[in-house]
Amino acid sequence: MDKVRKTAGDTSWFMRDRFGMFIHWGLYAQPARHEWVKHNEQIPDERYDMYFRHFDPDLYKPELWAKAAADAGMKYFVITTKHHEGFCLWDSKLTDYKAPNTPAGRDLLRPMVQAFREENLRVGFYHSLIDWHHPHYVIDPHIGPYRNRPDRAQMNKGRDQSKYAKYLHGQVRELLTQFGKVDILWFDFSYPKEDGSGKGHKDWQSEKLYALVRKLAPHVILDDRLDLPDAWDIKTPEQFQPREWVRVNGQRVVWEACQTFSGSWGYHRDETSWKSVDQLVQMLIDSVSKGGNLLLNVGPTGRGEFDQRALDRLAAMGAWMKRHSRSIYGCTQAPDGFQTPQDCRLTYNPQTNRLYVHVFAWPFMHLHLDGFAGKVEYAQLLNDASEVAIKGLADWQVHQLDAKAREKTKNSMVLTLPVKKPDVTVPVIELFLKK
Ligand code: GLC
Repeated sequence: MDKVRKTAGDTSWFMRDRFGMFIHWGLYAQPARHEWVKHNEQIPDERYDMYFRHFDPDLYKPELWAKAAADAGMKYFVITTKHHEGFCLWDSKLTDYKAPNTPAGRDLLRPMVQAFREENLRVGFYHSLIDWHHPHYVIDPHIGPYRNRPDRAQMNKGRDQSKYAKYLHGQVRELLTQFGKVDILWFDFSYPKEDGSGKGHKDWQSEKLYALVRKLAPHVILDDRLDLPDAWDIKTPEQFQPREWVRVNGQRVVWEACQTFSGSWGYHRDETSWKSVDQLVQMLIDSVSKGGNLLLNVGPTGRGEFDQRALDRLAAMGAWMKRHSRSIYGCTQAPDGFQTPQDCRLTYNPQTNRLYVHVFAWPFMHLHLDGFAGKVEYAQLLNDASEVAIKGLADWQVHQLDAKAREKTKNSMVLTLPVKKPDVTVPVIELFLKK
């Protein structure tokens, strides 16, 4: 298997743990119609401040969030410390636009970090490069509530992007020095344009920011959105599943698909495209089968709770992980030579030398595995450790095949399966490979 690109940050635990929780939580939970609502509806500050004045997550108990994540089998979490709206969850000394100054009346980030650490999850901070509230963030024609304003030039008078960059770096310093060991730093996002009208590494002073991050937290895993060609650890495909192991310049890289339960990252009351449990479990398996991770997002409500639709799906994923997590943790893409059977995905644990066949569509009686002949010592259903017969077709059945098909079955291994699909979201067959 060709070598994976080395990372400056420590991705050893990341490539083992595979499954994390993204959390998008901010003032946008109150309009409850997407975290980009201020941009989408071009809401001016004076109107958006209504949400600041009424943000009161009185039912907020981060320990419940952390337990839901841990019970789902998640091993790390990434929280939006500040999203594009500019509102900060922690008691930053660099702004008044923060949770302690709302009716919430307190730092909301600190108890969250503590609760997730108590559930043994690693800590990740998402931090928006974009800021629709800061007085020195230069308004551009692409993104933000004022992007279409005819008086944009007038509004930009006095704005100094380098002062915003200083603020950005100052808050990153706060986040990396005031909350203990941070394992992931997830900046979002650059949008450089040919004509300079967008925002990229110059606007964030990304090179300087990268140096600061590496100085304060050399181990931290950094995502790929600072508009720097090589200063990143993970690629972050979003809202799609890559068809194969993600590569950059032909080389395999560490990667993580970030996905939502529904069509919105922030809480969206009326958005109904919630993925089924089957889809969600299959997305996790699919990511690992291609050497990647899945970061699955929850958007908590303005009362400070995970909504029931998210809780139900997390619980169902946890039920599957309870009996199948060893086909996820410590696993990666199967070695070359093992062809993926129809309607399946393969994952492989190099330490235990076990290969896992995740059956997305339960076949009648037989599963044909090309490239497996002679390589498997024993097979069992993972959910109950019941043996699966490595037994090919009967002679009379083989004789019904033509010569070409008979030849093909010689190099394949045939598993004889119970007719009835095991009562689990995605059945998994554990194959103990011969040494
Ligand atoms: C996109 C969305 C942003 C979200 C991010 C998560 O950039 O615009 O709202 O936070 O994806 O990856």
